Amino acid sequence: MTEANRRLVIGCDHAAYPLKEQLKGFLLESGYKVEDVGTHDDASVDYPRFGAMVAAKVSSGEFQRGILLCGTGLGMSMVANRFPHVRAALCGDLFSAIMSRKHNDANILVLGGRVIGQTLAEEVVKTWLQTPFEGGRHQDRLEQFDSLERMNFPESGEEK
Ligand code: RB5
Repeated sequence: MTEANRRLVIGCDHAAYPLKEQLKGFLLESGYKVEDVGTHDDASVDYPRFGAMVAAKVSSGEFQRGILLCGTGLGMSMVANRFPHVRAALCGDLFSAIMSRKHNDANILVLGGRVIGQTLAEEVVKTWLQTPFEGGRHQDRLEQFDSLERMNFPESGEEK
């Protein structure tokens, strides 16, 4: 794991504030540096604002990895994936966490604070952070994302 990968940006809304705090403690104890963009209490906030703050920092390259949390994880996923170069993956199990790294090179992990418990969330985060991208044919597929962003994805192509 590179030094850059040990720097994380994390954000949440009120629905996932308790889990964000627990995970931040877990990450700091595990030796990660964490920039927390909020929210910083359980007062109701709009999740798109916090999702955008984290996604913008990953999209720009300021951070290589980010973590987002809302009640279900769905809203944060939708927001984050609107940003160029962001590949946000909502993971509620270890298999998804592993595959989102191996095949999708996910750079934002999304968790549902009202869905997943603390112990599983810590395992998912640890696994996601430690699993490398496989590259190869998966890199070719990720490169097609850029074409999609330019809205000129070919209608048919050769299967690999
Ligand atoms: C907030 O009530 C809730 O809508 C939000 O946390 C999230 O689940 C949205 O997708």
